[in-house]
Amino acid sequence: MILSMAEQESILPGEKLPSLRVMAQNLNVSIPTVKQAYQALEDQGKVIAKEKSGYFLCHRASHNDSPKRARLPAKPVVVNKQALIEQVYKGIHQPHAIPLGIANPIAIAGTEQVLAKIMRRAMKEAGNELINYGPMDGLDSLKKQIVRRYLDMGLAIDMDEVVITNGAQEALAIALQAVTKPGDVIAIESPCYFGIVELAENLGLKAIEIPVCPDDGIWLSDLERALEKHDIRACVFSTSISNPLGSFMPDTRRAQLVALLEQRDVVLIEDDVYGDLYFTEQRGIPAQAFSQKGLVITCASFSKTAAPSYRVGWMVASQFSAKAKRIKRALSCSSSLMNQWALADFLSSGGYERHLKLVRKRLIENRDRMIQAVNVAFGSEVRVSRPQGGCVLWLDLGKHVDGALLFQKALECGISITPGTLFSASKKYQNCIRISYGLPWDASVEQAIKTLGELADAQRKGLA
Ligand SMILES: Cc1ncc(COP(=O)(O)O)c(C=O)c1O
Repeated sequence: MILSMAEQESILPGEKLPSLRVMAQNLNVSIPTVKQAYQALEDQGKVIAKEKSGYFLCHRASHNDSPKRARLPAKPVVVNKQALIEQVYKGIHQPHAIPLGIANPIAIAGTEQVLAKIMRRAMKEAGNELINYGPMDGLDSLKKQIVRRYLDMGLAIDMDEVVITNGAQEALAIALQAVTKPGDVIAIESPCYFGIVELAENLGLKAIEIPVCPDDGIWLSDLERALEKHDIRACVFSTSISNPLGSFMPDTRRAQLVALLEQRDVVLIEDDVYGDLYFTEQRGIPAQAFSQKGLVITCASFSKTAAPSYRVGWMVASQFSAKAKRIKRALSCSSSLMNQWALADFLSSGGYERHLKLVRKRLIENRDRMIQAVNVAFGSEVRVSRPQGGCVLWLDLGKHVDGALLFQKALECGISITPGTLFSASKKYQNCIRISYGLPWDASVEQAIKTLGELADAQRKGLA
């Protein structure tokens, strides 16, 4: 019972458990029986007994140095982050800088050779057709492959529900336009991928930031409280692997999330861009699979797994399909046929799945190396995430280090990072940064981490 209360977050890590007497009354058992159960949980490291105070739920024993839990803010905010995002974008893409600021894991197991071969064949076999305008909602051969992959995950969808987009970013933009109007409130993650923060600003939406647990994704208890207090029109959440925390929401919680939202007729826009880059035993089942009312819109892409420059993404828009297709047509007519053809071929040959296995293996190796390097370079003051997927680490550097200043200083040393404050619609995460481990590991990367550690140390000592 205690474990299911913890799972449902009716008791939070660090909180006191009901007393032996209260628990015995509630369960209609004797006090010694409850005591025995509490002691068994203590033996398993799940609760802790404090003298004269009672029993308390443990924080995750495995990873006490993970970033701290954010607070649920009192109200939604009008988003105003574009100027900062623009400034950071320039820095992140600075030529020759070591690109720790870009979440791009493609270089870790390059796809350029295999895609070049497919592209040559595409031009030879279907060149005429592929340089023309294509079907507005995408190439059938690619949509078929996407539907087949979902079927393998246990999700049956109709090809008509799939709309091919220009990356996941366009899918998210279409989804938001389909279900909100300017002035509406949307719930976003905290910390949240800055592309979503920027979208909210562009569409004139207010955002309420819902804290994300570094291990399990969105805190459902905080979301429930926010839903009770505010008129939330839609939620945009990474339902499997989050960016920047790299948390992995277990299937049971994902099912609870969908039920919680559909009970209140709130739309869930699930961002599943990192879904295939999981380090757990199995891939998370998309939230779409748990929907009873058709209020889940799934957005994803091949940007993190095959070729970001191809700009091929998709959405599964369920009951919003017709509206989504109209918006797609108005926005960009259709997406590149050539790139869709190449990806359909990559998927149907089995090459894509083989490639994913290799990418996941290398990302796990790099994650571990980078966590180790960060701990050495930054010392005990750093709290670092332990991602269960994706390609980025989230570092909380403590109150004496300003992430934006570190970003500037790092750029002067030829290193790009992403300052933490970009991942908030308000002013959170000023002491945080995000760095990518999705690039081939070499001495220059190792040196870059050391340099970042020195720059942070200089700030702590008041020298920067
Ligand atoms: C969480 C998340 N969602 C969406 C996107 C946008 O993906 P795409 O490049 O396919 O537009 C990104 C890109 O970094 C991302 O990290």
